Amino acid sequence: MSPHLRLIQITKSFSRDRLPLLVLDKIDLDANHGELVALVGPSGCGKTTLLHIIAGLIRPDSGTISLNEALVKDCQRHVAYMQQKDLLLPWRTALNNALLGPEIAHEERKRAEARARQLFAEFGLSGFEGAYPAQLSAGMRQRVALIRTLLSQREILLLDEPFGALDALTRSELHGWLLKAHQKSPRTTLFVTHDVEEALTLADRIYILSERPARVKAVVPVPLKHPRDSTQHDFVTLKAELLRWLRTP
Ligand SMILES: Nc1ncnc2c1ncn2[C@@H]1O[C@H](COP(=O)(O)OP(=O)(O)O)[C@@H](O)[C@H]1O
Ligand SMILES: [Mg+2]
Repeated sequence: MSPHLRLIQITKSFSRDRLPLLVLDKIDLDANHGELVALVGPSGCGKTTLLHIIAGLIRPDSGTISLNEALVKDCQRHVAYMQQKDLLLPWRTALNNALLGPEIAHEERKRAEARARQLFAEFGLSGFEGAYPAQLSAGMRQRVALIRTLLSQREILLLDEPFGALDALTRSELHGWLLKAHQKSPRTTLFVTHDVEEALTLADRIYILSERPARVKAVVPVPLKHPRDSTQHDFVTLKAELLRWLRTP
């Protein structure tokens, strides 16, 4: 079963002009086994910083991280992390970028490639397997980065604004795809979005963060069945609640 991730009192400052800039202020967060959790908060509040800490790219000043109740320094070996910047390697084709994870994990190329090609087709990228990142649009690069993350066998997914560069139609298709994949094999997933409606469409629970320094303002469960309809009464009510929380100082 995909692990339970728990953050307790994670705090982080950077220094700016030699003064400390508090970015994360005692963040408590749980993502239960196989749960889809959304992080919503204003731009610059510290969402990416939090994912970097979970992924082990930076260290918190204080606070602890645990997996299935066991303390860990970070989750580096357990997470597949799709960063906000797509970070595709310019000298590798789209397909070979997507296969980076399996390659590093020494998985059999043939099987990984078959899965990758299937995802390229499902994500509307058929025919672009051999293209280089510079030949792709921002939305296509984002889909390649998403495929690369999903192909990884790691048990936790961290997705930083994974659908940000996509047009509305592609975005809604990929939402459906992600939910289907998640229902088939639920991995504990933490994803960042600006979009309250996107959070409500996908998440089991939503964390609302404040302006910097990020604090948890509210944790909102989403007890709605999939597929969710944004015109549904309960959806609309929850959306109003989330927007209220976002506006509350
Ligand atoms: N390495 C760093 N050094 C100094 N300041 C940083 C660094 N990384 C991020 N920041 C600052 O921390 C704040 C939060 O950034 P970030 O986590 O990227 O926010 P978000 O992802 O919510 O938009 C911003 O004010 C940003 O300028
Ligand atoms: Mg960010």
